[in-house]
Amino acid sequence: MIGRLNHVAIAVKDLAKASAVYKNALGAEVTDPTPQPDHGVTVVFVNLPNTKIEFLEPLGANSPIAKFLEKNPDGGIHHVCYEVDDIIAARDRLKAEGMRVIGDGNPKIGAHGKPVLFLHPKDFVGTLTELEQA
Ligand code: CO
Repeated sequence: MIGRLNHVAIAVKDLAKASAVYKNALGAEVTDPTPQPDHGVTVVFVNLPNTKIEFLEPLGANSPIAKFLEKNPDGGIHHVCYEVDDIIAARDRLKAEGMRVIGDGNPKIGAHGKPVLFLHPKDFVGTLTELEQA
């Protein structure tokens, strides 16, 4: 069912610092920060030949990554995102297998303008897992 690894998201307290590490030490191509108020984050994309890394910095008072950064003050891997051809079919299959979809179960428009869902980390080997319709 799952296809390509779309991205690995890393939560950070300081986007500029994280971007500089990837740009300077790793020689990566890094985008300018994009605020996404609907998601409570500002995002920087690191474009790699085969996938992307997304740096997420909290935006606003109720950012969904604020708690994560309290527990991981140096930053850390927040979630992984896999592509699926049909997000509704994927959701229905996972629910039938007893997997928990976070929120109301309906896909939301994610960072790339495509429908996404998040799956409970306790059902997915301790890792918050995002599905994005390819
Ligand atoms: Co993501």
